Amino acid sequence: MAAPITRKIALMASHDWTLRAAMREFLDFLDPTLTWKGKKYRLELIRAIAKPLEVGTDLSKMADLFVDRTTHWNPYYRSWAHQAMNSLARMVNHSYTFAVYDKHSTYDIMSLSMHPDDRFPKTVLLPQFHPWSDDQKKQAWWEFEQRLITENTTLGFDEHRRQTDWDKVKSALESAKLADKREEIIREHFYEAGDYLKDTVEKVFKNRFPLYLKKAYGGGGGKVYRIDSLEELYQRYDKTGDEAFHLQEGIEPFDVFYRAMGIGPIIFPMVFQPDKPHHEHYSTEKPAMDPQMFHRMESYVMFINSYHRWTYNSYECLLKDGKLHPIDFANACPDSQFISLHVHFPLLVCSLMKWLSFCAVTQKDMKIDLEMTRYLKFLNAPKRSQIKKFEFCRKNSEAYFEIDTFQEFCEENFKGIEDRMIQYYDEKFDDIIRFAMEFSNFPETEHDKFYHQYREIMEKQWRPNAREYLKPVIFK
Ligand SMILES: Nc1ncnc2c1ncn2[C@@H]1O[C@H](COP(=O)(O)OP(=O)(O)OP(=O)(O)O)[C@@H](O)[C@H]1O
Ligand SMILES: [Mg+2]
Repeated sequence: MAAPITRKIALMASHDWTLRAAMREFLDFLDPTLTWKGKKYRLELIRAIAKPLEVGTDLSKMADLFVDRTTHWNPYYRSWAHQAMNSLARMVNHSYTFAVYDKHSTYDIMSLSMHPDDRFPKTVLLPQFHPWSDDQKKQAWWEFEQRLITENTTLGFDEHRRQTDWDKVKSALESAKLADKREEIIREHFYEAGDYLKDTVEKVFKNRFPLYLKKAYGGGGGKVYRIDSLEELYQRYDKTGDEAFHLQEGIEPFDVFYRAMGIGPIIFPMVFQPDKPHHEHYSTEKPAMDPQMFHRMESYVMFINSYHRWTYNSYECLLKDGKLHPIDFANACPDSQFISLHVHFPLLVCSLMKWLSFCAVTQKDMKIDLEMTRYLKFLNAPKRSQIKKFEFCRKNSEAYFEIDTFQEFCEENFKGIEDRMIQYYDEKFDDIIRFAMEFSNFPETEHDKFYHQYREIMEKQWRPNAREYLKPVIFK
């Protein structure tokens, strides 16, 4: 028989020390020769190395699949990924939509596709505050003037030789004043006058608090404020400057905070505890879900991910009064460290192994074109029922992820992967825990303590229940 074909999976620069190590070691442990449509394949994990890149270079030749863990924090790789897509490279997440689509825009699209049994929290995009109130403007002018004076002053050996270029200061102030005047005109012509904060709180939120004031574009856990009163809203809004925020209904008190990982069509919910320290954000519980509710959650994750062509993303929603309330899902570089995921980490590794292999071996069409018109025409049709819209999204997501073909591929190649993971755990997983400590943010003096803590969680909680933890979901 012909020699196996090599399929390469390239990882872009990443801080996921444990994920990288586990993927490589587990792959070595499995040492699989995969088969598909009568041919044999071997997998190779490689790295996408940053080096000078000439435009027009075809990057698709380098690997069969690229895994982006980088482009939101590294501008070189962002441009690199865009060039890779220009050469039709297969990317695990679409790098244009990842760069462009933000929290607010994903909210908007999500709100159009909800199942009637759930609810999208009321959410409003606010105009940015800048330019400011008179007092703040005076303060800003004063600071600007002082800065100009400092910048245009040369100090001498003695006081007499100190010189300020007042002409420069004056002309800079004059042009700034002109620009400022134009800004004011823009504000007058294009922005709602009056107290739109108060109006929004009254009309949209019926004066109910708490509300959440959150930066509209997301990005790493900052600038999210819980607001208890109109007075507090004014105070916070005063400080938002020229950044855009939205105001969202607080879903409180909620029963469960679910954060689901979406790896291709494999969706696994975990219980999220944002108030705990970072390494305890994910609970060690394997949540048992109501099958219908899971179906809805799975459909939402698959829709957001297939619509944006993200196949490695996470999705946050709050369960209150039996309804799911989605709150955050433009996260196409979800935390994937052992330190954070612990008991859920082996499932992440198995899921990635399946999905990445599937995309690389079958040369899956990740579909750079977005089919937005088709989706949006359906979702915006005023007379169409919400359930029809929900079902349309589900059906199209299943088609995007090629669910049947994926299952067939896993059946052929990864049957029993769970048993192999358990074996791998028993023989080698200790190395991963040690490695996790070495690259963690825990102080070195505490590595030993945390090593034992994580080992205990894995030994006492994961190992006796490994089969349950390795299923994407368990049902009530
Ligand atoms: N509508 C809401 N109701 C209740 N709690 C909320 C709501 N929105 C946000 N929160 C709380 O605030 C936290 C942060 O909000 P969110 O997840 O939207 O932002 P984020 O994680 O900082 O976003 P990103 O990482 O994309 O910047 C949530 O984990 C949750 O605890
Ligand atoms: Mg979040």
